Amino acid sequence: MTAKVIDGKAIAAGIRQELKKRIEKERLSPSLAVVLVGDDPASKVYIRMKSRACEEVDIHSDTFILPEDTTQEDVIKLVEAFNKDPKVHGILVQLPLPEHINEREVIEKIAPEKDVDGLTPENMGKLLSGEGNLTPCTPRGVMKLIESTGVELEGKHAIVVGRSNLVGKPVSLLLQRKHCTVTMCHSRSKPLEGYTKQADVLVVAVGRPKLITADMVKEGVVVIDVGVNRLEDGSLCGDVDFESVKERAAFITPVPGGVGPMTIACLLENTVNAST
Ligand code: GUN
Repeated sequence: MTAKVIDGKAIAAGIRQELKKRIEKERLSPSLAVVLVGDDPASKVYIRMKSRACEEVDIHSDTFILPEDTTQEDVIKLVEAFNKDPKVHGILVQLPLPEHINEREVIEKIAPEKDVDGLTPENMGKLLSGEGNLTPCTPRGVMKLIESTGVELEGKHAIVVGRSNLVGKPVSLLLQRKHCTVTMCHSRSKPLEGYTKQADVLVVAVGRPKLITADMVKEGVVVIDVGVNRLEDGSLCGDVDFESVKERAAFITPVPGGVGPMTIACLLENTVNAST
């Protein structure tokens, strides 16, 4: 079997187009504040892509780049100013933050109704209990990619490799909401292939290049690769060995062009929802 490649770029473009229409029709003026501390090159690329996507759909966005040595107190002050500003509907603090800043303590200060990343304790709690509509962007994008395949999820065995707050934990909850049986694994699960071979749906988000190979999956699996790893030659690759796994899977996402564009489209969607 050769997999159908799920085109995240095209699906994300469709979401952006719909959002642009909605903003115009409902006469919305959504606005997003993005905060980056330091000059991590990957984060800089991400926030540039986010601000470009905002522009495309007519979301106003302001990016605040603070020096690497900014204190935690000053980052919190900025977040609190956005909380109070009625013109700001969404706040995004790009992660990772420099080591001297406690990420949790900063995230906790974001007003839950402006938390377009869905990472505050209140929004994570709502996700756990099955409520709320500000869910984390990457997991939201992963679910839309799975749904685009038309594969029925009820009763299927979903395996999630990775247990981060940003992806692994929330995606597991969203899959469970769709009536999957979910097994959460991580880089220390032993033997990992003993689990991954059981997957009808496999979501991988551990940040290990080509960790998942063809012998670790069963025929006909739906594979969503969240990993973005830069190889020594400068090229990008996922956590899945795309070339070999695509010969066994029914559906697979590429890297780049799979989950990445969906994360940004879902951020825009959350920003529009936060503005209404
Ligand atoms: N860094 C990598 N992915 C994300 C994301 O979805 N949100 C934020 N805030 N930072 C990130």
